[in-house]
Amino acid sequence: MSQPVAGFSKLNKEEKIDWLKRHYLQNNTEAVKILKQYWNEDAKLQQLHDEFTENTISNFYLPFGIAPNFNINGKLLAIPMAIEESSVIAATSKAAKFWGSRGGFKAEVLNTKKIGQVHFIYSGEKEKLQRYFKEVKPKLFKSVKEITANMEKRGGGVLEIELRDKTASLENYYQLHCNFETKDSMGANFINSCLEKFAHVFKEEAEKCPDFTSEEQNIEILMSILSNYVPECIVRAEVSCPVEQLSEESGMTGEEFASKFKRAIRIAEIEKYRAVTHNKGIMNGIDAVVLATGNDFRAVEAGIHAYASKDGSYTSLTHASVEAGIFKFWMEIPLALGTVGGLTSLHPMVKLALEMLQKPSAKELMEIVAVAGLAQNFGAVRSLITTGIQQGHMKMHLMNILNQQEATPEEKKMITDYFKNHTVSHNSVINQLEKLRQQ
Ligand code: MEV
Repeated sequence: MSQPVAGFSKLNKEEKIDWLKRHYLQNNTEAVKILKQYWNEDAKLQQLHDEFTENTISNFYLPFGIAPNFNINGKLLAIPMAIEESSVIAATSKAAKFWGSRGGFKAEVLNTKKIGQVHFIYSGEKEKLQRYFKEVKPKLFKSVKEITANMEKRGGGVLEIELRDKTASLENYYQLHCNFETKDSMGANFINSCLEKFAHVFKEEAEKCPDFTSEEQNIEILMSILSNYVPECIVRAEVSCPVEQLSEESGMTGEEFASKFKRAIRIAEIEKYRAVTHNKGIMNGIDAVVLATGNDFRAVEAGIHAYASKDGSYTSLTHASVEAGIFKFWMEIPLALGTVGGLTSLHPMVKLALEMLQKPSAKELMEIVAVAGLAQNFGAVRSLITTGIQQGHMKMHLMNILNQQEATPEEKKMITDYFKNHTVSHNSVINQLEKLRQQ
């Protein structure tokens, strides 16, 4: 059993790898070679990556792909996606092509408010606290002027600060519940800096407040942090077309397809086990674009799943209807994204991804990401109710199996040709490869 290490972060990269090799990699020099193989030759570029986080010892690659032909509000875009899962980009691209010839995707940002909270404990008279809050509120706004100056120039800033009484849920618990507009930045640093300043001033001024008893002056600040739940930062994405335009290669009529599709969505609306998988498919599209554009996919995931259960029960994020012969499929989701700040101008691939998207504003990126999610869901549900998911999945997985078996380019070509007309399974690919190698 290895001993805890002291001062690990102070070791240089080589020393960290050496420590790892000795303690956890059985002195395996091959492992060290792999770690170093992923270093970038360009030392400056590598240093940039090293400094994104702590204790970096190598880089971790993800495929960076493109889903072309996205008609979003009349603009044709190629969407960059960073994702390892076979078939996600293929399914998204297929959905883009399908809807491209049926009017394209419509997307609209409905609102852009973000939330942050100062959580504190106060055990005195409520009326006194309310009076104090009214008095101190202008000082709170004033206290962050230095932090908000640039944001205000861009049209953002602190929108409102409310005192919220949460004592019914937890003894003596109150909040400063604050609304922010952060324009093109995701705004996490901006919001957290404002909140910490509010907390400081709120406590400091209370200590001077003559209305409070000495015990009441002792407001205990617990924490100040933004919320990743952003139900008032919402984007809507939608597609629609006459039902007859939905007829399928598989031979299904438009009416049959619309009816099956609607029922599949309805099941995700009422059945939790299905809803989670259904929404996971949506996140395949969303996360891939969020990652490629250098945004925080954990924040996006947490916020969206919370929104999926906003009415008390976890449900589908997408909905479908047929009215007067028109099939409509849509989704409204919360998304807090940035196109300035964070990694956006630092990470060369992120910068490039944003350039490919024609340097979108945060609102435009919200629309693009929502469309990628809707397209991905359309593709998944369409496969599920027609051919089944495995056909496409296994075709894409075929290359992974061939790579595991170290197939040569010639073998890959022959095997993929063979499986154009045969069902892919792990065993069938291995058998076919063995047959080929015996010949
Ligand atoms: C797989 O990554 C995603 C799906 O399971 C989504 C769905 O079932 O709707 C195919």
